[in-house]
Amino acid sequence: GLFLMQAADLSVERSKRPQPKPDPSSLVFGKHFSDHMLVINWSEAEGWDRPQIKPFQNLSLHPASSALHYSIELFEGMKAFRGADNHIRLFRPMLNMERMHRSATRSSLPSFDKSELLQCIKKLVELDQDWVPFSQSASLYIRPTFIGTEPSLGVSRPSKAMIFVIVGPVGPYFATGSFNPVSLLADPAFVRAWKGGVGAYKMGGNYGPTIAVQSEAVKRGCQQVLWLYGPEEEITEVGTMNLFIYWTKPNGEKELLTPPLEDGLILPGVTRQSLLDLARSWGEFTVTERTLGMKEMLSALESGRVLEVFGAGTACVVCPVGSLLYKGQTFQIPIEKNGTKLAERFYKELTDIQVKTPTRVTLQHV
Ligand code: COI
Repeated sequence: GLFLMQAADLSVERSKRPQPKPDPSSLVFGKHFSDHMLVINWSEAEGWDRPQIKPFQNLSLHPASSALHYSIELFEGMKAFRGADNHIRLFRPMLNMERMHRSATRSSLPSFDKSELLQCIKKLVELDQDWVPFSQSASLYIRPTFIGTEPSLGVSRPSKAMIFVIVGPVGPYFATGSFNPVSLLADPAFVRAWKGGVGAYKMGGNYGPTIAVQSEAVKRGCQQVLWLYGPEEEITEVGTMNLFIYWTKPNGEKELLTPPLEDGLILPGVTRQSLLDLARSWGEFTVTERTLGMKEMLSALESGRVLEVFGAGTACVVCPVGSLLYKGQTFQIPIEKNGTKLAERFYKELTDIQVKTPTRVTLQHV
């Protein structure tokens, strides 16, 4: 029969040349990598090879590998935190494993055992634990990746595939912890995802094509893209993040709103889910997942009902929005007047859970 993925079969080859760790205050996102990586190969004929942890190194791929031609590629983003108690914690990692499994199915990549993969990832983090920054504002970013390595140009389900996981220290998105509101270009000419498409899956193919649009936003004096969809110009995401709006409804009620997952346009973010869970647990205002068109947004802005707008993602946690550029007109989010109180509260509550939840177990889930 076929071999199953088993963390118990993991082999470890230690690096003979451990690298010096970068200074946690000078980290640039995605530029630093630890001493080891996890690799697990799969083939249709044999199933899953033994998982291997080995020195961080280049991959060797057949030039016809389907990942390189047809974007049979998906990834995850998660973080390990070192708490004040020096224990290392992963944040809701099973949510990443579940999303990764859904992305794999949609990518015609093989099924895998989510908890076995997570155990392998924990072993990697354990081995490279000195790479988890000794800092409460930095963390170890974990990048599980799954690629088709089918060595032929036929557009077909890959008969070979590889999971690899690389990790590296990342700093706080906002140095000094003070938020820097971003300006957004809202132009319906650009579309990130569409109904029936793959926007809900963390595939590399969803991200590469956004870079040129991001450059266009910068050309027009903005920092990020507000992704709109359809004739109602539904507000969907911001840059690579989920979007939240905190406002006063016309009836005077306060509400936190984010676009819903049902349409398949929205990436089901772990931070998104966590902010919804936190806000619902507070019970202080209405929490709603529904579509919101640009027209409704502009009328709320014009009548002064918008309190805060922010992006939410693993990389930056929360990222306040300062303004929108729409059809040549700039609309300010009234940050001067309202501040970024809710975004800051979310940031503090979430990072507290990530670094301070009492635990005596190394690599405990929080
Ligand atoms: C995030 O905002 O956490 C992301 O998904 C960013 C990643 C694509 C670099």
